[in-house]
Amino acid sequence: MAFQTPILITNFKCYQESTGARAVELAKLHERVANELGVNVAVVGMSLDLPMLAMSVSIPVLAQHLDGVGWGAFTGLVPVEVARSVGIDGAMLNHSERRISDSDIERALERMKAQNMLSLVCAETLEEGAKFAAMGADFIAIEVPELIGGDVSVSTAKPELISEAVVKIGAGKVIVGAGIKTAEDVRKALSLGAAGVLVASGIVKAADQLATLRELCGALKS
Ligand code: G3P
Repeated sequence: MAFQTPILITNFKCYQESTGARAVELAKLHERVANELGVNVAVVGMSLDLPMLAMSVSIPVLAQHLDGVGWGAFTGLVPVEVARSVGIDGAMLNHSERRISDSDIERALERMKAQNMLSLVCAETLEEGAKFAAMGADFIAIEVPELIGGDVSVSTAKPELISEAVVKIGAGKVIVGAGIKTAEDVRKALSLGAAGVLVASGIVKAADQLATLRELCGALKS
């Protein structure tokens, strides 16, 4: 499977506002706005919520992490094949809140490819991003850890990082995130060449999630 771009991807993390029944509600809001505006949207859910999310919406549902192992005697892991069998479209790997080794990334990517799953590998630097792109990741999410969860977006604080990432990693492959809160943040990221944005608190913690989604997704069109 492939993402259509430009895209807005929301990482639900493990917030109270975006897990359990509220994860399903929020995913449905994403689907509603995607249909209303005709834009591309995907959600990244926590492991326990994934089957329920996959059954509830038709937009892409990604895991926050997967393990590059198959079926078998593994305890506490989330194998790629198991995720695929419950309808998960892809996974984010190596988020800065869930870093894994290069060899674990490679193992997961290989199995995800075999399952036709979409991969979004997070990188904290351009060098890492280029390395993961060479490993065959479909998309690279560039996120500066110190901006995550804050009010200053990567688009404002580090615009040059976005343009350099596009040159180094390739147009159409770069997703940027951290501190994205406004339509202007989205517009700026796209105008610098990003294929999409990765958001968490800006939508999950918004007083009005639907209005915020409409605002940020509207910027995918302009
Ligand atoms: O995965 C997205 C994330 O790390 C960015 O978080 O809260 O800054 O949008 P936030």
